[in-house]
Amino acid sequence: MSTQIPETESQGYGTAKGFCITASFWMVIATLYGLTTAIEFIAPDLLGNISWLQFGRIRPIHTNLVIFGFVTPGLLAVGHYIVPKLLRTRLYSEKLGIFLVLLWNIMLAAIVVTLATGHTQGREYAEAIWPIDILVAVIFVLMFYNMAMTIKHRNEPILYVSVWYITSAVILTAFVYCIGNVIWVPHAGALTGIPDAIILWFYGHNVLGLLLTPLAVGIAYYVIPSVCRTPLYSHTLSLVGFWSLLILYSHIGTHHIIQAPVPTWLKVISIVGSIGMIIPVLVVLINLWFTAKGKLAEIHANIGAKFVFTGTIIYLFTCIQGPMQSLPQVQRLTHFSNWVVAHAHMGVLGFSGMIAIGGIYFILPRLTGKPIFSRALADFQYWMILIGLSGFMVTLTMAGLVQGNSWLNGETVYRILPQMHMYNIVRGSMGFLIVVGAVIGLYNIIRSLFFNPGESL
Ligand code: HEM
Ligand code: HEM
Repeated sequence: MSTQIPETESQGYGTAKGFCITASFWMVIATLYGLTTAIEFIAPDLLGNISWLQFGRIRPIHTNLVIFGFVTPGLLAVGHYIVPKLLRTRLYSEKLGIFLVLLWNIMLAAIVVTLATGHTQGREYAEAIWPIDILVAVIFVLMFYNMAMTIKHRNEPILYVSVWYITSAVILTAFVYCIGNVIWVPHAGALTGIPDAIILWFYGHNVLGLLLTPLAVGIAYYVIPSVCRTPLYSHTLSLVGFWSLLILYSHIGTHHIIQAPVPTWLKVISIVGSIGMIIPVLVVLINLWFTAKGKLAEIHANIGAKFVFTGTIIYLFTCIQGPMQSLPQVQRLTHFSNWVVAHAHMGVLGFSGMIAIGGIYFILPRLTGKPIFSRALADFQYWMILIGLSGFMVTLTMAGLVQGNSWLNGETVYRILPQMHMYNIVRGSMGFLIVVGAVIGLYNIIRSLFFNPGESL
C-alpha cells in the first residue's frame, strides 16, 4: 500500500468528503429542529398534540444534531484531511474511515428516531439510549485506531500541534463519552442524585471542551498559517495552549451546576479553573493572531479562512463570558435563563461551528482539485450566519437579564412570559437566517463536490 499523500479526492480523502456531506446535511435538519423549537416558544399550541413534535422531544434532537450531526462531523472532515497531510502520508484506511462515516449517519438517524419516539436517558447531551452509546464509543475507538496507525506509518517525523489536538480530541472523547453516559448501567444510563449531576456535567462540559474546542483549535492552527503562507508564530505557545487546555478544562464541569448542592470544594475548583481558562484561550489566540499579523487581506480573500478567523474572534467573546458566568454572584442571575442559551449558541455555532464550515470550505478545493462551486454563495452564507448569530446573542442576552432579574425579585416564571414574547419572535427570525445559511451551505458543498463545472486548479 502506498503511503504517499493523495493530491485530490479522486485519489483518496473519501472519509473527509463523507464527513463534509454529513455535516452539511445534518446542519440543515438540526437548524430546522431549532427553528421549530423556537416557533413553539412563540406559539406553544401551534403544533397541537403531535407527540414527536413536542418541545421536550425536539429540543434534545436539536442539541444532539447540532453537536453530533453538524459541528463534530464538520470538524472531523477537516481533521481527516489535515492529519494525513501534516504526516505526509495517506489515512491508514480510507475504507475504515468511510465505514465510520456510514456508522455515524446510522447513529444520527437512530438518535432522531429514538428521541422522537420518547426513548431518552433524560440527561442533557446524553439523551441517547444505551445501544447508541455503544455505537458512539465503538466509532470513536475505531477512529482513533485509524489515526494512530496513520501516525505510526507517517513520513513526517514531526507531530505538528494540529495532530496533537485532533487525535487527542478523538481518544479523550471515547473515554469521556462512556463515563458521562454511565454505560456500565445500561438500563438507566445514569447514577442517582448529586453524583449523577456531577458526572453528567463532567461529560457535558467536556463534549464542548475536549471534543469541539481541540478539534476547532487544531484546525485553526492549520488553516491560518496555510492561508497566510507563514509559519506559526510560536511553537512553544502552541504547546502551552495544548497542555493548559487539558489540565484546566477537563475537571471544571461543575461550573454548570453551581446552584446545586454540590460539595463546595468541587465548586471552588471549577470556578478557579474557569478563571484559569483565560490562559489556554489567550495563548491560542495570541499565537493565531500574531501569525495572521499583516496578512488580513489573505484571510479575507479565502472564504474558508474568513469563517475560521471569525470563529477565533467569537471564541474570545465566548471565553470572556464563560469565566464571568462561572462566578456564583453572576450565575445567580443568569442560570436557567436565556443568557446561557446565548452563550451556548455563541460557543457551539459562533466558535466551533464557524470553524467547521470554514474548514470545509478550506479543504474542498484540495479534495476536488477545483475551486468551490460559488464563492458568492459562501459569502452569503457567512453573512446569514453572522447576522443571525449576532441577533441571537443580543436578543437572548437581553431576555436572560430580564428573566434573571425578575426571578430574583420573586416573580414566577409564567408572569414573565408576556415580556419574553417579542424576544422569542426576534430569536425565531434570526434563527430563520441561520437555516437559510445552512441550506445554502448544503447546496454549495454538494455542488462543489459532485456537480462542479469549475476548471481544475
Ligand atoms: C473559558 C471558557 C469557558 C468557560 C469558563 C465557560 C463557562 C460556562 C459556564 C459556567 C456555563 C454554565 C452557565 C449556567 O448554566 O449558568 C456554560 C455553559 C455552556 N457553555 Fe461555556 N464556557 C466556556 C467556553 C465555552 C465554549 C468554547 C463553548 C463551545 C464550544 C461553550 C459552550 C457552552 C454551552 C453549550 C453551554 C450550555 C450548557 C447547558 O446546556 O446548560 N462554552 N459555560
Ligand atoms: C447550527 C447552528 C446551531 C447550533 C450550533 C445550536 C446550538 C444549540 C445549543 C448548544 C443549545 C442548548 C442551549 C442550552 O441548553 O443552553 C440550543 C438550544 C436551542 N436552539 Fe440552537 N443551535 C443552532 C441553531 C439554531 C437555530 C437556527 C434556531 C432557531 C431559532 C435555534 C433555536 C434553539 C432553541 C429554541 C433552543 C432551546 C433553548 C431553550 O431551551 O431555552 N438554534 N441550540
